[in-house]
Amino acid sequence: MGERSDQPKKEVKEFEPPEDFAANATVNDPDIYRRAEEDPEGFWEENAKELKWYREWDRVLKWEPPHSEWFIGGKINACYNCLDTNLEKRADKTALIWEAENGEIRKYTYKELLDEVCRFANVLKDSGIKKGDIVTIYLPMIPEVIIAMLACARIGAPHSVVFAAFSGDSLATRIGNANSRVLVTCDGYSRRGKVVEQKNKVDDGIKSCGIIEKVIVVRHHGNDISMKEGRDVWWHEVMKDSDISCEPEIMDSEDMLFLMYTSGTTGKPKGIVHATGGYMVATYTTTKFVFDLNEDDIYWCTADCGWITGHSYIVYGPLANGATLVTYEGAPDYPDKDRYWDIIERHKVTILYTAPTAIRTFMKWGSSWPEMHDISTLRLIGSVGEPINPGAWLWYHENIGLGKCPVVDTWWQTETGMIMISPLPGVTTTKPGSATMPMPGIKAAVLDEKGNETAPGEDGYLAILNPWPSMVRTVFGNEERFIETYWSKWDYKTYFAGDGAKRDDDGYFWIIGRVDDVIKVSGHRIGSAEFESIMVSHPSVAEAGVVGKEDELKGEVIYCYVTLRSGTEESDDLKRELRSYAEKNIGPFARPKLIIFSDDLPKTRSGKIMRRVLKSIANNKDPGDLTTLQDPDVVEVLKERTRTLESA
Ligand code: WT7
Repeated sequence: MGERSDQPKKEVKEFEPPEDFAANATVNDPDIYRRAEEDPEGFWEENAKELKWYREWDRVLKWEPPHSEWFIGGKINACYNCLDTNLEKRADKTALIWEAENGEIRKYTYKELLDEVCRFANVLKDSGIKKGDIVTIYLPMIPEVIIAMLACARIGAPHSVVFAAFSGDSLATRIGNANSRVLVTCDGYSRRGKVVEQKNKVDDGIKSCGIIEKVIVVRHHGNDISMKEGRDVWWHEVMKDSDISCEPEIMDSEDMLFLMYTSGTTGKPKGIVHATGGYMVATYTTTKFVFDLNEDDIYWCTADCGWITGHSYIVYGPLANGATLVTYEGAPDYPDKDRYWDIIERHKVTILYTAPTAIRTFMKWGSSWPEMHDISTLRLIGSVGEPINPGAWLWYHENIGLGKCPVVDTWWQTETGMIMISPLPGVTTTKPGSATMPMPGIKAAVLDEKGNETAPGEDGYLAILNPWPSMVRTVFGNEERFIETYWSKWDYKTYFAGDGAKRDDDGYFWIIGRVDDVIKVSGHRIGSAEFESIMVSHPSVAEAGVVGKEDELKGEVIYCYVTLRSGTEESDDLKRELRSYAEKNIGPFARPKLIIFSDDLPKTRSGKIMRRVLKSIANNKDPGDLTTLQDPDVVEVLKERTRTLESA
């Protein structure tokens, strides 16, 4: 067992898979890479056969770049593959252990989960939901979010889960884009002991959107809410008389399983469309390989079902593997900073999957918190969401993995649906800070502007060269944007991930971060343009430039440069108001760290705000060539203001 400390004592550059781990691992033969490379379609087909299909596919892949179809002619149901298929061997196995922030615990066996899902599927049907109708789910991490997702999948209604901390306005935008008639939400929930009035956010948000016909409300927190006659119904009331059996809908492999909205480089969020068959094969397979799930594992992914990680690696991948899940509703420091380690000890968690921003926070809190608990049941630990710096990786390995657990740093995206670059814990030698190598069947590369591979050590753009089963099919209702964003950079058949990266002499991938105007705050994706368009909707704001500033804990924080309308006075009150405005209109995770007022912003001669320049000012870096600026002097002024505010 490695000794625990806050400062890793020695710089170890590489870690071999521990011998005992490798000996028992699901994958311990590196030959899997060669086999998958020689015949990627055969590789995916072999794994697809482990799922239950109503009808087998006629053809594995149709690739007409940038469009792919997988398991063509295949018929499948995702919910059936997560629940019914487990009944024979695992009916009484615990599928879900849920813990509330206040300590309440609820457990569901596979059979119990299936019953609840069927009952809710029937509720949806009774609400008029048919195959193809999109249902919006706006719930915190409570069992009902998983039940609602699987119920949608069962009846072939794609779900659109909106992160519970988003504002009512953000919810309404997504409902509008998806044209969703039914919404599933709750009265409220607790965050660090304080109530979040979820239903009030709904009422405000959808007031003017006029699409929602029915709101199904989970009674969770018990706070007072108002129910709108004819529109709102209580979950527990409609569930009471609902039938316990519901035949799964037979879906085409290419039918949409769900929509997931994510931020991009324009003002509007994109609805990422995932198809059923390929997504199930991809998440089932990668869960099995990367997390090495065994029958007795207790698996805890700390993500939220409001993001893709919750879809792929809480719900679909792990349940299709018959896993026992732990989920937790609340904050890691409630009631104290050892909550995670307490959960691991009590539930005997064996696999932990969390985010670098959390790891860096734990590191700051110090190793005395995990030391208070017996977390030696852990045998594998993972990371996702942003680059993990070597220091945090080493701390995680020593203090949480106790020096014995392999660390899997997994690179992927909402758009990829599955883990794309990651160690296989029984095979891959890891290097702290590197996501290592593409998964079997995936060809990735680092390319320059022209599409040529960069030399080792040289920065470039991360690209995926071949299709994979869970790739984004389109942007909902905006095919043009799909092609423009992901495929137009090179040749319309190479996927542009939007990340900068480099490879080392051994070919290992080192992800640097976003190269486009997407900011990552604690792993949450926020688009600069989306943020700016909200800021300029405030009556006092004329112009806004929003950029990410590197931050030790959160990865990035938001700096918001604002020009006020003429006649508006700069004041601290107005700064506070603008911060709350961002919070109210997007969500608390989008609260700007700094608001910097300025009479002018760096602009091109044609008047376009140059975010690149703002970003270098925020990050105290050389802004480079300024000759194309309307007024280069503004840079010095902004630099000075930024530094003054930072030291205030
Ligand atoms: C972006 C995708 C994938 C689920 C959670 C985030 C960054 C993600 C890593 C990693 C370096 C990472 C990238 C990517 N990212 N994982 N292991 N190392 N960067 O999904 O919100 O769609 O964000 O997250 O920048 O493009 P997402």
